Amino acid sequence: MKLSQTSVVLTGASGGIGSATARLLIHEGAKVLLVGRSKDKLMKLASELGAGASDRSRLDALVVDITTDAGRAAIRDVAQARNVNVLINNAGVPGFGPSIELSSVDAQAMVNTNLLAPMLLTSCLLPQLMKQPRAQVINVGSTLARIGVPGFAAYGATKAGLRAFSESLRRELAETSVKVQYFAPRAVDTQFNDARATTFNTVTGSRTDSVDKVAAAIIEMIRSERIERGIGWIEQLAARLNALCPGAMDGAFTKHRHALQTLPSSLTQLNRKPS
Ligand SMILES: NC(=O)c1ccc[n+]([C@@H]2O[C@H](COP(=O)([O-])OP(=O)(O)OC[C@H]3O[C@@H](n4cnc5c(N)ncnc54)[C@H](OP(=O)(O)O)[C@@H]3O)[C@@H](O)[C@H]2O)c1
Repeated sequence: MKLSQTSVVLTGASGGIGSATARLLIHEGAKVLLVGRSKDKLMKLASELGAGASDRSRLDALVVDITTDAGRAAIRDVAQARNVNVLINNAGVPGFGPSIELSSVDAQAMVNTNLLAPMLLTSCLLPQLMKQPRAQVINVGSTLARIGVPGFAAYGATKAGLRAFSESLRRELAETSVKVQYFAPRAVDTQFNDARATTFNTVTGSRTDSVDKVAAAIIEMIRSERIERGIGWIEQLAARLNALCPGAMDGAFTKHRHALQTLPSSLTQLNRKPS
């Protein structure tokens, strides 16, 4: 779809990937509804972008929690008024560490935010999207959905669930105007990764991309309507090999397992709901 023809709902707009994507969307002529929880961050971004999008029909912001029914209903109501035709499910929470340390609070936050909320928000917005001559849903997942890496068991499970949801829904809606797409970044340089995850990525040689590169890939997905894409040819090849013979890949993760066991737990800073 042409960017100038899009009216986008962008969740996680106050975060690293979200704000870089919002900047590019506005630059390319899209209408954007910024969605996030942190009022201050969202308003700061809206006022920065406001210079390039002087009226509220071009740019607006909504402070909601997407894990609540009320939050999703508020997005649906504004999306109807804005005649939205693109939903980018980008909001997410991280989870890194030994699975023996996984708390119920963090596991539920990951499942609720990374899987349940995008599924329910998509369902809630489908009537609006299906009215459009062309519409797109882009779900932001992760490389970790297709390659299980020690330390990311619960987080990877939520992103694998989002990928399965995207694939089924794409087939379910094949004869409608709505395209469902899945985007899988590898590590990205944002506050999403706490000190422990960043050290782990460095020690294991995981490649990290800039937010600008990732945002450009999201914009390209809108233009191309490609059903699925990731970043990094090595990661894409590894994902294919992993799908073909997962057992044969297990030996490639010794370094990751050792790094996970030796990282001091004092580096962990859980990314909880902001004040
Ligand atoms: N960074 C990486 O290494 C990486 C790699 C692969 C995939 N991803 C995925 O990329 C997406 C964006 O990540 P990021 O790196 O930009 O993270 P980030 O900077 O931490 O931003 C996360 C965004 O999600 C929003 N959010 C979280 N919970 C929410 C809730 N309940 N309701 C509404 N908004 C909520 C946050 O809003 P507040 O700021 O208001 O809390 C923030 O805008 C995520 O889905 C993540 O899983 C990230």
